[in-house]
Amino acid sequence: MDVVVLDRPEDVADHVAALISRLVERDPRLVIGVATGGTPLPAYRALARGSVDLSGVRLVALDEYVGLPPGHPASYAAYVEREIAGPWGVPAAQVVVPQGSGDDVERRIAELGGVDVQLLGIGRNGHLAFNEPGSAMDSRARVVALSESTRQDNAAPFGGAAVPTHAVTQGIGTLLEARGLVLLATGVAKADAVAAALTGPVSPDCPASAVQRHPRVTVVLDRPAASALAGRGLLEGASSQRVHHPQL
Ligand code: GLP
Repeated sequence: MDVVVLDRPEDVADHVAALISRLVERDPRLVIGVATGGTPLPAYRALARGSVDLSGVRLVALDEYVGLPPGHPASYAAYVEREIAGPWGVPAAQVVVPQGSGDDVERRIAELGGVDVQLLGIGRNGHLAFNEPGSAMDSRARVVALSESTRQDNAAPFGGAAVPTHAVTQGIGTLLEARGLVLLATGVAKADAVAAALTGPVSPDCPASAVQRHPRVTVVLDRPAASALAGRGLLEGASSQRVHHPQL
């Protein structure tokens, strides 16, 4: 695991944008798994401002709410179009956002030949995509019930209207099949979840702990998000911001 701790959220965005840019330069048709929370937004915007042509990439979103009307501004389909595909110039035919059944999500990922690099956020409760605590480490794409804390955390884009109770999400087993994972977290609110995910037991209690099972993981954190890692062994001996050698 490559853990990179940087001063500010902007540095996290720039680091991730540079990493993705390098991969796209090597493979303009890269299949990028995109998380749709607030954390990666500055990285998507940094990529849109950059000089690398992103129009050939294929995008696969992690998850989507169930029951929103098509085009609802708080849907992840709308997020991907507004924040990623549109600004990057990626045609709709190159975009997959989960909808319907989990089987359909699995089939569409398989048709793309799998995901090359999966960007991941982390929930305060350790959720990954919409895999809430209790999700099996080998779970596949499926419809899930959202926890109350996740619905509260995600309430803002709904502007006071009810947050959906269910979502369709890639499973933990599904996203562990991506060839590389990049987990991003910023802010002290994520510190405990980050520490549990990276240094705790691999357990359904903390779905994000599944990343410890993947052979190619880069974790990019700002200092507040990394603050609970001190004394947990992962950062000891670090002489610079980069803790391990880069893998991606
Ligand atoms: C959300 C999404 C995830 C996201 C995570 C963190 O509920 N389903 O895909 O990565 O929670 O979100 P944020 O980056 O906004 O904190």
